[in-house]
Amino acid sequence: MTNDTNRRAFLKKTIQNTAGLSLALPILNSCQSEPIPSNKVDPTLPIILSTWNNKKANQAAWDTISKGGTALDGVEAGARIPEEDPNDQSVGYGGRPDRDGNVTLDACIMNSNGDYGAVTYLQHIKHPVSVARRVMEETPHALLSGAGALKFALEQGFEKENLLTSKSKQEWEEWKKTSEYKPKVNIELHDTIGILAIDKQKNLAGACTTSGLAYKMQGRIGDSPIAGAGLFVDNEIGCATATGMGELVLKSVGSFLIVELMRQGATPAEACKEAVMRIVRKQNYEELQVGYIAMNKSGEVGAYSLQSGFVYAITSDNQTRIVEVDSYI
Ligand code: GLY
Repeated sequence: MTNDTNRRAFLKKTIQNTAGLSLALPILNSCQSEPIPSNKVDPTLPIILSTWNNKKANQAAWDTISKGGTALDGVEAGARIPEEDPNDQSVGYGGRPDRDGNVTLDACIMNSNGDYGAVTYLQHIKHPVSVARRVMEETPHALLSGAGALKFALEQGFEKENLLTSKSKQEWEEWKKTSEYKPKVNIELHDTIGILAIDKQKNLAGACTTSGLAYKMQGRIGDSPIAGAGLFVDNEIGCATATGMGELVLKSVGSFLIVELMRQGATPAEACKEAVMRIVRKQNYEELQVGYIAMNKSGEVGAYSLQSGFVYAITSDNQTRIVEVDSYI
């Protein structure tokens, strides 16, 4: 036996022999994760959860999973709905441009194996979430950016399109008259879509997609495509995703924090609240919004936001409800 194995055997024996068994075991348990059987079909599933009033996205995810798709197929199908909606000016086609008039998209996706794919600063492609999935599945990499991401997308057969709609262009022309940069809280009650799903096999997946902050500096990347910030999935524990001011989420690695808090026993709601409180305690948050949603391996869901006005959409049993989220302010 190696020294390490000797030490582990000694510790195990000591714990078994000690009267303080109940004290010792929880400490060990908090570091261990029980393998959860994932091959049993659960009739109460799937459950779909997404940021904001994204009913149509949830329905697309539900339909996909109900027809035999995986949680991963579901979140991709869901995220594609606002991406192709010209009236959703925070995501994909129709998204508001940066200060120089470029629509630049960020997205990521994670599956139940812990695989992750992402694109940042992707231009001219309507469905960055699907490009992110191809990065995950077809390349040795996790994240492609800018010109390289576009080159890869075109090689994969995605169509090059103009994403700047006349509505978003007109608003940008208007904005340029003052060029005042002031992110708005709950911009028209929608923003980045983060979408989470658990399928009938109890497998989790998530996706997050955005055009980022309106009139951002050229080159700015937010939280949405970054694993652990805008999205995190751990199939043994749960998943979480974020919406709102990406800089606040990036600095606090919010989604990873939520999953780790759930690992330690927090409910999804408690974990989301603590992630928001980290921002409150450490960052300048006044007049900015961040909202988190989370789901654990049992399909229990929760959410919390900095400012009031954040809602999420939940679909189970083929019914979608919009839920108002508790907030700090
Ligand atoms: N949460 C989206 C962004 O800040 O880009």
